[in-house]
Amino acid sequence: MLITEKQKKGVIFTNIINGILSVSLFLLKRRKNINLIMKKEEWLKKGYVDEPVEKALDLKAEIKRLCREKDAVILGHYYQADEIQEIADFIGDSLALAQWAAKTDAKIIVMCGVHFMGETAKILCPDKVLIPDLNAGCSLADSCPADKFAAFVKDHPGYKVISYVNTSAAVKAVTDVVVTSTNARQIVESFPEDEKLIFGPDKNLGNYINSITGRQMLLWDGACHVHEKFSVEKIIELKKQYPDAQVLVHPECKGAVAKLADKIGSTAGLLKYAMASDKKDFIVATESGILYEMRKKCPEKNFIPAPPEDSTCACNECNFMRLNTLEKLYNTLKYEWPEVNVDEAIAQEAIKPIQKMLEISAKLGL
Ligand code: 13P
Ligand code: SF4
Repeated sequence: MLITEKQKKGVIFTNIINGILSVSLFLLKRRKNINLIMKKEEWLKKGYVDEPVEKALDLKAEIKRLCREKDAVILGHYYQADEIQEIADFIGDSLALAQWAAKTDAKIIVMCGVHFMGETAKILCPDKVLIPDLNAGCSLADSCPADKFAAFVKDHPGYKVISYVNTSAAVKAVTDVVVTSTNARQIVESFPEDEKLIFGPDKNLGNYINSITGRQMLLWDGACHVHEKFSVEKIIELKKQYPDAQVLVHPECKGAVAKLADKIGSTAGLLKYAMASDKKDFIVATESGILYEMRKKCPEKNFIPAPPEDSTCACNECNFMRLNTLEKLYNTLKYEWPEVNVDEAIAQEAIKPIQKMLEISAKLGL
């Protein structure tokens, strides 16, 4: 078929227009990427996505929509702010969060907790694990630097190493079995009575477990800045006001506070105790976030947060846990950043003591 001069010109013109369009598109995409990279540098410095969120946005609905769209699941610890606990797909203690991470088949886990919880999830579920703010650390985990702990372990040949889950992946990598405050007693007791044991990093939990098991585990000298702060005097004062109140204490609290306890247990353990109790008043010596679920499960009961020593505030919050906000959670899901990453070689070692903990817990029905 013969093409006229006019048609030829038409084809050339269309090709030029297409060319201009693809070059513009390419430049536009490049600019967008550069913007994203520039933003990311800023985010990297801050440790979270610092993008403005439209005021009119229904944040909770948008977070849920993003979760559906991206096949993401939100796991939240009991110490999170109420509004995060309200929209999380699952809330629980450290053991339950690890168990949940091990069994989920969601494409993305958003861990609303602190960094070691994100690392544990990443080790168990190597897909994408996001955390709303990389600055959400843990003073207890920080009290046990991996190199120093590894040297301590090396200095004590013949000892088995038990580490609390509140540790970095690198500490877990030189550990025989991980524990949480829900299963620490049973896991320690699963070792023969004459086994030499190192327990780290929480000296308060370690002392408590030694006292109830009769073991003499060698303890690392670490502690949590939130749980160490509860005031014995203020709890005694509250007891005078509420003479029938039960005192609920997390085992990370110092011994003098633990002595006042009617029940010592993990967050899940204290919640379970309060639900089963026929008492009305409870003084709660752990991070005050747990009160959200306690009040939800037992609306007819009265939960009083135990106050810390050094403040006029009536409750005791973990500044790391409280770094997570609804805005940061929304941006994390939207931009899929920050991601929790664990060095491959460390993860290969750290998974062994975590799996061991999960196996023992499953056998015990925990
Ligand atoms: P639980 O395992 O009892 O939830 O404790 C986690 C924690 O960080 C305590 O400070
Ligand atoms: Fe760590 Fe203490 Fe905060 Fe728990 S409450 S996450 S142990 S700093």
